[in-house]
Amino acid sequence: MPTFVVDSRAEAEHVLAGEIADLLRARPEAVLGLATGNSPIGVYRDLCALHAAGEVSFARATTFNLDEYLGLQDGDPRTFRRWMQTHLFDHVQPRSTNLPECHAPLASADAVAVRYEQALQAAGGIDLQVLGIGLNGHIGFNEPGSTRTSRTRVVELDQRTRKHAVRVFGDLAQVPTQAITMGVASILDARRLRVLAFGAEKAEIVRRTLFDPISAECPATFLRGHHDVKLYLDAAAAELIEDSALPS
Ligand code: GLP
Repeated sequence: MPTFVVDSRAEAEHVLAGEIADLLRARPEAVLGLATGNSPIGVYRDLCALHAAGEVSFARATTFNLDEYLGLQDGDPRTFRRWMQTHLFDHVQPRSTNLPECHAPLASADAVAVRYEQALQAAGGIDLQVLGIGLNGHIGFNEPGSTRTSRTRVVELDQRTRKHAVRVFGDLAQVPTQAITMGVASILDARRLRVLAFGAEKAEIVRRTLFDPISAECPATFLRGHHDVKLYLDAAAAELIEDSALPS
């Protein structure tokens, strides 16, 4: 997987925001795949700045997010929908934004997931997908055990993922146990994948993503099979990788 170690995360954020802006200029109706979390937040900040400067328009763009918690009410500040509104959508106003429904009654959540996958296909697939990597190797909420052929579906959240989310939810009992996520195959269908990992906390999972056997034990390893993927790391996230071993 082509891997770029940058001097600061700001450099990677600037490069990726620029690539997304170029894509939107070349293809205003582009379909963007988006992630939440710490990894992409600076890319969205840069896109908001480019938009405010009149350098990019989202007026014809469509977005699909990777995932959403299940069991929260619409408008709950802890939903990924609200996070996206705050950090990107309210500022750049894409034509159409899509996230799985967080309040889907559990009985109909499977149908919500199937409809989301169908909507993704109907939109023509994703031109460029932004991704972070979870500490356990998840992409979206494809937790360890998720197969290469998995599609959008209801998933049980891993304990490690739930513990990580305590910083948002306050206490473990409040963290949802389920989510809807795009599948691994749905993600790998994107025409470009751009993956971000920053900070020492990500060093071990970055090493595994690049060098572990490709398997469902670490779903991020599946990214290595993609024809147009780039991984951006800062020095701290790359600290367990020998320079000479860096894939190019
Ligand atoms: C989260 C999300 C993913 C995200 C990943 C990494 O739980 N479900 O979409 O990419 O974990 O998050 P972060 O960038 O905050 O480290």
